[in-house]
Amino acid sequence: MNILVTGGAGYIGAHMVKKLLALDHEVTVLDDFSSGSARSVLCSDFVTGDIASPTVVDGILSSRKIDAVLLFAALKRVADSVSDPASYYRSNVAGTLQLLDSMLRHEIRRFVFSSSAAVYGQLIDARIKEDHPKNPVSPYGVTKWTIEQVLEHYRSAYDLRSISLRYFNAAGADPDGLLGCPRHESHLLPSIMRAATSEHERLCIYGNDYSTRDGTCLRYYVHVADLCDAHLKALEALDQRMPRYAYNLGSGEGFTVLETLHVVEHVTGVHVPFRIAPRRPGDPAALIADCSAAHTELEWRPIRSEMKTIVDTSWKWHLKNSDEFAPVFNAPVAISNQ
Ligand code: UFG
Repeated sequence: MNILVTGGAGYIGAHMVKKLLALDHEVTVLDDFSSGSARSVLCSDFVTGDIASPTVVDGILSSRKIDAVLLFAALKRVADSVSDPASYYRSNVAGTLQLLDSMLRHEIRRFVFSSSAAVYGQLIDARIKEDHPKNPVSPYGVTKWTIEQVLEHYRSAYDLRSISLRYFNAAGADPDGLLGCPRHESHLLPSIMRAATSEHERLCIYGNDYSTRDGTCLRYYVHVADLCDAHLKALEALDQRMPRYAYNLGSGEGFTVLETLHVVEHVTGVHVPFRIAPRRPGDPAALIADCSAAHTELEWRPIRSEMKTIVDTSWKWHLKNSDEFAPVFNAPVAISNQ
């Protein structure tokens, strides 16, 4: 297939490009490089620009025979969306609508959308299935849920075939060591890696008084390569009548922040200094993914999402990319095998 990957220079998009190329798909990347890195783009056909620019997108779609579009280009930091919602609505909603308009003008009707567990917001059930009520609490979550609803309407009105993939906590790095999550990201794994390799940084654990087994927040981390596999399954499913058009993607086991830190210490042998900080606004105590629909209907199974694999691949990536930073290892930690 000829596939346009928007945001193909970003963390998940770049991993997706690598996977598509390995399967001999023709790939075009569109990225504005606002957060992605040109070093991460593994295909030769890439265009610098914004999904919101009809000139740029129409230019791509009229000069290539694109079969499907994968959307990774989006702003994605929950806290930033609270302080600067306008940017999030402009980019994630208005930009995506422009992209969809261009697709329809060129009669391209296959679309896979990177959505998020943030669409659920206020949780009513601890274990989240796709039909859980949607009460997004952050502007980020609202933008994702808005586009999911737009896609429902476009499916019936314009026969735009789409699947939305609701990521839980994406983590890990390319098993071949070519790609990984940028070191400066504020997510938990990069933050732990920085604390493990810096003289000056300690991990801030945002709250240890939640109603979880050790008081810190619990998440279902999913390996980025498993997310890419799910996109391939979604691409195949676009031409079929599916029981639903949105799927949760998470792993089968939850880890608290402290448990994650301990796995990092165990896998790397490096001590991770931390301090307990106040709760971070908007953090739910636990996000427990029920991914049974993706297992049975998309036939997707995460195979690299064990926490040890996530940590091992992330660690190797951080060490290999030491030109970005000067690693200063903390004292080895005493490891127990518990
Ligand atoms: N955390 C820390 N210290 C850090 C970084 C994170 O304690 O330095 C904690 C957070 O408070 C949270 C957990 O680690 O409890 C995970 O935090 P991340 O920032 O890695 O991920 P989130 O759970 O906030 O975000 C994820 C996705 C979002 C999605 C959200 C849904 O990345 O896209 O889940 O709530 F919107």
